[in-house]
Amino acid sequence: MLDFKFDWCKEMETGIPLMDSQHKELFHIGRNLEQLVICHCIGVTNKQLLDIILELREYVGYHCYHEEELMKEHNYPDIDTHKKKHAEIIQYILDIDCKKLSEEPYRILCEVKTYLQEWVFGHILIDDVAFGKYLSIHTLNN
Ligand SMILES: [Fe+2]
Repeated sequence: MLDFKFDWCKEMETGIPLMDSQHKELFHIGRNLEQLVICHCIGVTNKQLLDIILELREYVGYHCYHEEELMKEHNYPDIDTHKKKHAEIIQYILDIDCKKLSEEPYRILCEVKTYLQEWVFGHILIDDVAFGKYLSIHTLNN
């Protein structure tokens, strides 16, 4: 568990500057969470834990909204499937039990980190990059 996972790589670029910068911000939050896990949550306060969960809730919701608006604007045919995947992560983050988190911060944070990492990497590399490709073709043809 000592390796950093929230490292950005070129393959994650969608070619859409706003999306890429928002994704990098998500990675920034992911790395903050990862730092706490690496330190085994030793000395972590309830406020730090809550702040990170609230930041995740706020930022993931904000980012998904922007992405979906861009998809609507460009009539992206896979928007419904994409929105379902966004809804999954939003729900997962909303469902994080903050009481449990304050009781067992390390265990819960490890779970959150693993879920987030798998979702974020899979989603960006496959779904968001696919949207980026669609958008570049669509924009070129217009
Ligand atoms: Fe997305």
